Amino acid sequence: MTSRRLLAIMDVMKETPPFFPVGSTIDARGHLVIGGCDAVDLAKEYGTPLYVFAEDDFRARCHEFKREFGDRCSGTRVVYAGKAFLNRAIVKIVAEEGLGLDVVSGGELEIAGAAGFPMSDVYFHGNNKSDAELELAVERRVGRVVIDNTDELERLDTVAAGRGVRMRVLFRIRPGIDPHTHAKISTGNVDSKFGFSLAEAGTAVPQAMTSKNLDLAGFHYHIGSQIFGIQPFLDALKTTLEFVADMKKSHGFSTTELDIGGGYAVQYLTGKAPPPPADYAEAIIDHFNSECRRLDIMPPVLTIEPGRALVARAAVALYTLGAIKNIPGIRQYACVDGGMADNIRPALYGAEYEPFLANRMSDLANTVYTVAGRFCESGDTLATDIKLPDVKSGDILVMPVCGAYCLPMASNYNAALRPAVIMVKDGRSRMIRRRETLEDLLRCDIG
Ligand code: LLP
Repeated sequence: MTSRRLLAIMDVMKETPPFFPVGSTIDARGHLVIGGCDAVDLAKEYGTPLYVFAEDDFRARCHEFKREFGDRCSGTRVVYAGKAFLNRAIVKIVAEEGLGLDVVSGGELEIAGAAGFPMSDVYFHGNNKSDAELELAVERRVGRVVIDNTDELERLDTVAAGRGVRMRVLFRIRPGIDPHTHAKISTGNVDSKFGFSLAEAGTAVPQAMTSKNLDLAGFHYHIGSQIFGIQPFLDALKTTLEFVADMKKSHGFSTTELDIGGGYAVQYLTGKAPPPPADYAEAIIDHFNSECRRLDIMPPVLTIEPGRALVARAAVALYTLGAIKNIPGIRQYACVDGGMADNIRPALYGAEYEPFLANRMSDLANTVYTVAGRFCESGDTLATDIKLPDVKSGDILVMPVCGAYCLPMASNYNAALRPAVIMVKDGRSRMIRRRETLEDLLRCDIG
C-alpha cells in the first residue's frame, strides 16, 4: 500500500463537518446523504445546479432560537427574515413553527399571503416603500409596518385614514453602531440609508402619537448581518434603551415593543465558528434586563429577526464539474455548471465557502483548486484556493451553507435558468421550486 493511500485511509472523513444540515452523513460509498437522501442520486434525478433544503435543519434552528431567547425572556418573538430565502413551502414551515415573518416588499408579502401566512404576524419592512405597497400593507392588515422615515410616516397615515384603519407601527432607527462586518452588509451605522436618526425619530414620535390611524408600539433596528461579535448587539441595545427612556421622559411615550433585528452569524468554514445562539441570547437578554433596570423602564416585548441563522445551514448547492483547467505554476480551475447567477455572494462580498465532492466525501482533499462558475466574468468564482480530491469531470461538487441569500439574489445573467429547489426529509425528496425553462426566459420578452 502506498503511503498516500495509507494517509487517505487515516484521514478519510467519517462525518460531515458541523456546517452541513443536521443529520447529514457519509455512506459506505463515500456519498453525502442529506435528510436521508443520497445527494448524488438527487443530482441525477433533478439535475444540477440543485439546491437541497433539509427540512429538519430549518425546523431545528427555529426551535433553537425560540428556546434560547424565549426561555431567557418569555414573550420574545422570533420573526424569520424572509429575504434570506422565501418560498411557499418555507413560509408554511415558519407558520407551523409559530414564528412571525419579516417581509421587505409587496412581492414578499404576496408570497406569504399565497402560502396562507397569518397577516397579523407579518412585519413589513423597507426603506423606500411605494404607495402601492403601503396600500397593500393596509389592505392586508399586516401586523406591523416598520416605518423607515418621516415621508413614509405621513403617507401611511394618509393611506390608513383613507381606509379607516388603525395600523400598528414601529419606527426603524439607526443606533449609529459599527457591527464590524462587511461594509456592504452593515446597516445600523450613522451613514446608512436605513431608518431614522435618533434625532429624527425623536421628532416623529409625538407626530405619530397624535395620529388616529397609527398605533406606534415602539422601535426597530437591524445593525447588520453575519456579525461574529456580541458587543455590537449590546451597544445597539444600550443606545436604543436610552432613547426609549428619553422618549418616556420627553413625550410620555411608553415603548411596548422593541425589535432588535437579525444579524447572528453562521459558520461557513472549518475553524471559523461564531458564538452559538445560546451565547448571543444569554448576553443580549442579560444586558436588556440590566439596562431596563438601570434606566427604570418597563421592559418592552422583544422581537428578534434572524434570517441567515435560521436557514443558511439548511441547504447545500450541488453542481456538476465540467472543465478542469491547469495553468502551470499559477492556478488550477475546476469549473461548475452554475456560479454567480445562483450565488453571487463570493463575487459581491468576497464570501468564502468550503466545497466538497458529494460523490467522494471520504477521498483525501489534497489538490488546490479555484472553483469557477460558467458565467462570462473573471470574478465568477465560488471558492478560491481550496482543497479537493483530484477532481474529474462529472464529479458532483457540494457547497454547504447555501440556504441564505443565494437564490433570492439569483439572476438570469447570461440567460441562466434559475435552479430547481428540493426539500428533503426522512429519505424523501420533493420539489419546492422547479427549474426555470427557456419559456420562462421568453415569457417577459415581447420582442
Ligand atoms: N431584519 C432586517 C430589517 C434586515 O434587513 C435583515 C437583513 C434581517 C433582519 C436578517 O439578517 P440576518 O439575520 O440574515 O443577518 N445579502 C447579504 C445579507 C443582507 C442582509 C439584509 N438584511 C449576504 O448575502 O450576506
